[in-house]
Amino acid sequence: MPATKQPQDYSKHLLHVLYEEQRDHCFISDKAMVSIAERLELPRAQVESVVEFYSFYSRTPRGSFDILFSNCTSCGDLSLMQRLCELLHVEKGITRDDGRVSISEASCIGMCDHGASALISGRVMAGMNEQRLKAMAELIEKDVAVDDWPTDWFEVQDNVRHAGLMLTESFESGSALKMVTTEGIDVALEKIKHSELRGRGGAGFNTSQKWKFCQEAIGDAHYVVCNADEGEPGTFKDRVLLTSHADEVFEGMALCGRVIGAKRGYLYLRGEYRYLLSHLEQVLANRRSAGLLGETILGISDFDFDIDIVIGAGAYICGEESALIESMEQKPGHPRIRPPFPVTHGYLGQPTVVNNVETLAAAAMIVTHDNLWFRSMGTMQSHGSKLLSVSGDCARPGIYEYPFGISISELLDACGAKDVQAVQVGGPAGRLVHPSNFDHHIAFEDVATGGSFMIYDHSRDLLEVIHNFCNFFAHESCGFCTPCRVGTTLLKNGMDKVCSGHATAHDLDEMKRTAAIVNRRSHCGLGVTAPNAIVEGLKCFPELFEAKLLHKEMEPEFNLDASLAEARLLANRDDAEAHL
Ligand SMILES: Cc1cc2nc3c(=O)[nH]c(=O)nc-3n(C[C@H](O)[C@H](O)[C@H](O)COP(=O)(O)O)c2cc1C
Ligand code: SF4
Repeated sequence: MPATKQPQDYSKHLLHVLYEEQRDHCFISDKAMVSIAERLELPRAQVESVVEFYSFYSRTPRGSFDILFSNCTSCGDLSLMQRLCELLHVEKGITRDDGRVSISEASCIGMCDHGASALISGRVMAGMNEQRLKAMAELIEKDVAVDDWPTDWFEVQDNVRHAGLMLTESFESGSALKMVTTEGIDVALEKIKHSELRGRGGAGFNTSQKWKFCQEAIGDAHYVVCNADEGEPGTFKDRVLLTSHADEVFEGMALCGRVIGAKRGYLYLRGEYRYLLSHLEQVLANRRSAGLLGETILGISDFDFDIDIVIGAGAYICGEESALIESMEQKPGHPRIRPPFPVTHGYLGQPTVVNNVETLAAAAMIVTHDNLWFRSMGTMQSHGSKLLSVSGDCARPGIYEYPFGISISELLDACGAKDVQAVQVGGPAGRLVHPSNFDHHIAFEDVATGGSFMIYDHSRDLLEVIHNFCNFFAHESCGFCTPCRVGTTLLKNGMDKVCSGHATAHDLDEMKRTAAIVNRRSHCGLGVTAPNAIVEGLKCFPELFEAKLLHKEMEPEFNLDASLAEARLLANRDDAEAHL
């Protein structure tokens, strides 16, 4: 593994320096890149590749009011974007001549429980509507700084609708660390093992095993990374945990640090959640003053652990753990070849645990309870509870924490969903569930999800939903490997054709062949799961596709079942994670 230069001072991290340059000058010029490269003592090519890779940086000037509308099926409404373009006389993607405004699209910004949302010069604005647009347009024309806009426009609510095992419990700061220092590392690890906690980030890997592998790995230093990239459309539960339970998350990181022998941890926060930074810094500062972070934690001479925050810059792929580590190392987020896995060769080539926000919070709580607390809930293979981000067509979108094993129909009842046509569980990479399967359960062994639960009633055009997912993957493919880079675009083109009514049965057949190749030959989990939306759509709702075909009758050589069987092979994120 080549040595990677790393800043000790995180204000000098390339992603952060570029953020400031973009914020202050609305773009990153060639001259700025040269000067940043010199200042940070990095190759200029590295700086340039990072600027090119992340969507929040731009090499050409964006407007001083740079507005990015979410295009997610839950927190996006592109008709509002169009309307604002009209009000401000701007063409989407083209900065207005006076340099004041640019308007464009962004992938899901994690506000799915708030309806239509946007980023206004990097700040989250949830709950957009026509009236708000008009007021915004006036403020922009008067050149009123975003900081002086009404503060309630930028408020984000937790929207916890049902609290379960974790969210109902109060947590005493430092209690997990006291437990591990009094009862010992082995006992703490044994408790997590006994709970059978599995990762909440999607792949469901056994947490105690991951920690054990890392503890046993040889290296100069060990690291803990909390994955708060949360880019899966429809997912926002980590946002809520970081807003109202950050102490538990940081405690989980410090606990993990103690178990694996790490002195440093990093929270990798998605750029869209930058508004949480000062709050998170405050929680960290409180923990330092309470002796729960820093040197000699709880007075134990060999217990040193501190946490830095690294903020991403708009790249969904950086949620994939090895891409995240590349990003932390100031590089484009291209997933690494695995093995070796991060537990032995992670950040800076050293043993690293990467865990989801919810996993770390759960670990902290598990060690402070008796052995039955966690595992008495859930199913045989999925213990404990799950935080579900419920959004879309329902009366009460928000966070629902239920024990694993809750059925889809129970959840739909709880959130007041009616006339449901389909549910997308696990984000665009997950499963599209037909009403005939609403008796299935949320569990690793049945319908698995990292948290996303998006509801579509009969007012929705499901083909447009699938189209949206295909656009998402084509846009978010990191471009590193050909099957995904080319294949996701071919699939998107196929759905363009289907939705515009120009596709034939032959096109569907081609899409399935492409889906199988993308699924089998892609380098990382993004490509492996990208075709799921089309494959699931064709399996569950073939009549919708058929109704849109140019020639309505399927061509004789088209064999839906055979193609589907092929395409579904390995189409599952757990396999992808386990095998790559
Ligand atoms: C394309 C892609 C995006 C991902 N995004 C996230 C994410 O936003 N948050 C997350 O925790 N895991 C994400 N993962 C899974 C991580 O790679 C990794 O498995 C996880 O962070 C491990 O934590 P856990 O064991 O606690 O689940 C993603 C995986 C892929 C393939
Ligand atoms: S599968 Fe897609 S996202 Fe993953 S490495 Fe290949 S191009 Fe990048």
